[in-house]
Amino acid sequence: MFLVLFNNKYKFHMYQVLLIIHSILRYAFLFSALYAIYRSVSGWQNKLPYTDRDNKASVFLILFTHSQVVIGLLLYFVFSPYTATPMKEAMKDSVLRFWKVEHISMMLIAAVLIQVGRIVSKKASTDLEKHKKAAIFYIIGLLLVLASIPWPFANVARPWLRY
Ligand code: HEM
Repeated sequence: MFLVLFNNKYKFHMYQVLLIIHSILRYAFLFSALYAIYRSVSGWQNKLPYTDRDNKASVFLILFTHSQVVIGLLLYFVFSPYTATPMKEAMKDSVLRFWKVEHISMMLIAAVLIQVGRIVSKKASTDLEKHKKAAIFYIIGLLLVLASIPWPFANVARPWLRY
């Protein structure tokens, strides 16, 4: 009995903490994506060399993308009550469907695109190709993320910041 109560309380606390971190880290992701895109587009258009700074911008973007995926997976499979609903029921409700299917699939596709972007950019043989590949993949990834964040003005709305 005590263990059950303790477990539920702990689980609720962890849920709140992870939700706050996931909410704040969206901005770290967005800023790092904008910076990496800015560097790769200007490098591509102005035919600049691919420098250590470009690599660092890409590393930060990967870091925040991975962090969001790990915390998102924990929320999805362990802590969130929204994603605990069985699929059949969740599909009938637009809010539950968003959490159960739409947010996770769009975000995972975006994360894969960003990761693939880094790999193909690293493997490219010229600096121009490195910038170009990074730019294209990161821009598509960012657009997918922007479309799938539960902004306060979206159909499924969450606050700008949770604290
Ligand atoms: C760059 C990637 C991502 C961004 C920017 C992002 C952003 C967000 C935001 C802003 C929220 C709302 C937080 C709040 O209520 O204050 C949220 C909630 C959530 N996200 Fe993500 N997310 C990302 C990736 C993912 C991934 C990959 C998954 C699943 C694997 C995921 C699963 C969830 C879940 C389960 C919730 C919470 C639903 C609830 O309230 O219980 N997210 N996300």
